[in-house]
Amino acid sequence: MEKNIKKVLISEDDIKSKVAELGEILTRDYEGKDLFVICILKGAMIFMADLIRHIKVPLEIDTMVVSSYGHSTHSSGIVRIIKDLDQSVEGRDVLIVEDIVDTGLTLKYLSDNILSRKPRSLKICSFLDKPDRRKVDIVPDYCGYSIPDEFVVGYGLDYAEKYRNLPYIAVLDPKAYE
Ligand code: IMP
Ligand code: MG
Repeated sequence: MEKNIKKVLISEDDIKSKVAELGEILTRDYEGKDLFVICILKGAMIFMADLIRHIKVPLEIDTMVVSSYGHSTHSSGIVRIIKDLDQSVEGRDVLIVEDIVDTGLTLKYLSDNILSRKPRSLKICSFLDKPDRRKVDIVPDYCGYSIPDEFVVGYGLDYAEKYRNLPYIAVLDPKAYE
């Protein structure tokens, strides 16, 4: 196993079947709609790339880059838009795709921001959810796994920009960031 990894929390096979399952649900829910998927970079890029191949209705994608963490494992509460959308979302059925909802501060800020642009609908799909750490009232409409309060990496999630390429979700050994 990779150095600094304490344990694998969600295996590659489990990820694959969960993503397929979410894709089926989204296919059903977005039939006949005007699906506009927003990928929150960089964490959600791998999840979104896998997910949209399981969504069997026409869709468009766009990306946003936001920063809330810097290089620590705790949220600062300050969200900055570093790259905004290229297209307008007005009147469209927007689905924000995220890697993880932790305190919820990032998604709270983002949903308020997107809502002010008048989409027809707005929903959130997050691969992971850490409900124990929530500071604001945000619940993802679609979620892969609810996980305990541990810092995880892999499948797009990083610690100080590393480990995004691991094909599984793993708990980082606290030694790696202490
Ligand atoms: P929130 O604003 O606290 O909900 O944090 C959201 C962002 O923090 C996510 O999009 C991730 O980039 C990052 N984050 C939160 N928890 C973890 C974790 O366990 N591992 C890696 N990144 C995390
Ligand atoms: Mg991150």
